[in-house]
Amino acid sequence: MFDVKKIRQDFPMLRNNTLMQGKPLVFLDNASTTFKPDVVINDITKYLTEETSNSHRGDYDLCFTVDTKIKNTRKHIAEFLNADEDEIVFTTGATNSLNTIAFGYGYKNLSRGDEILVSVEEHASNLLPWFRLQELVGVVVKFIPLDEKGRITLNNVKKAVTSKTKLISIAHVSNVLGYKVDMKEICKYAHEKGILVSCDGAQSVPHTKIDVKDMDVDFLSFSAHKMCGPTGIGALYAKKEILEKMDPFSLGGGMNVTFHQDATYKCLPAPAKFEAGTLNVEGIYGFDAAIQYIQSIGIDNIEKYEQELKAYAVEKMKKVPGIVIYNEESEAGIITFNIKGVFSQDLATFLNSRGIAARSGQHCAKILPDFLNELSTVRASFYMYTTKEEIDALVEALMKGGDFLDAYFA
Ligand SMILES: Cc1ncc(COP(=O)(O)O)c(C=O)c1O
Repeated sequence: MFDVKKIRQDFPMLRNNTLMQGKPLVFLDNASTTFKPDVVINDITKYLTEETSNSHRGDYDLCFTVDTKIKNTRKHIAEFLNADEDEIVFTTGATNSLNTIAFGYGYKNLSRGDEILVSVEEHASNLLPWFRLQELVGVVVKFIPLDEKGRITLNNVKKAVTSKTKLISIAHVSNVLGYKVDMKEICKYAHEKGILVSCDGAQSVPHTKIDVKDMDVDFLSFSAHKMCGPTGIGALYAKKEILEKMDPFSLGGGMNVTFHQDATYKCLPAPAKFEAGTLNVEGIYGFDAAIQYIQSIGIDNIEKYEQELKAYAVEKMKKVPGIVIYNEESEAGIITFNIKGVFSQDLATFLNSRGIAARSGQHCAKILPDFLNELSTVRASFYMYTTKEEIDALVEALMKGGDFLDAYFA
């Protein structure tokens, strides 16, 4: 049974009565990063204190232990996504995965005039690599129009597709508005037209069941730190036949078979081809533990609970005088809002003074403010360990802030 009080006991940041500004910490910035449970911390510590060695680099037992851990982690990630093991590439996170797609796939396989579809709500990591490819190769980055709420719909994808469209690269769940895209229907339509689909799963993989085979997506990018794992590690899923068509954009040890003085070299097959240099081994230990932890709670339970939190929060927050909520109806546990007449950063700073961690600004989606017609917003985002009491604390703080600056300086 899902028991948030019990779950909180697994997280030192939550059970140790962490304070911020001398007040009990209310952490509502989970779209940014998440807390780590004991099992993750313990496994990282185990590598650092008992099993330290490099991967693929030795004939002694410690290396074998590490190699086995890496192999098993890859297998666990593959099972989590319903992928095959050799379709999972370790990266440093969603950003690195998306860059691997742009420069590993796009640079080699796309040409001048080819169109890549994105949306205005994409994170910088899913726009700037494509902008760079536009500079380098001459591909054309085009935007799928959002509907009036801020959703990406199949209809709008259809409006943006032309005979030159080669790739659609969009977030499964927006990190600002929290709308969930029906990737399956978009993949089906795109594939009928010979278009590939890249799914930025940074905000979906930690919160909702993903089956890459059922979705039939071509690429999926995500980070471990947004799903209770450590920073600096993540994964790229890509279909085997697509990985074979890609070149690595990072080369070095661990990814080659041979190289010679005449500058010829041979790469290992995927996924090793894309994993140049020493891997983030402690990150992989933590990633594995995080996946297993999420599975022990149940991803469906997590999603259901976050939706319950979202409904609860919307209901309560709507009563705050002057509040504007931009995404009442979105699926994810993310609420983006402003208080009329209050600058978002002042609001977030005020919340900080109450021990509440929420993010303000443009949330790395710097084109979306044009759509929202707002310079910036405040975002509160939940995870499996967020409580209704924490949401009450947020609402109470917002209620008290008729004039936020007065309240802040009081
Ligand atoms: C939708 C989305 N994509 C990509 C990223 C980048 O993730 P990372 O910084 O872990 O590489 C984020 C991070 O906030 C995100 O929310």
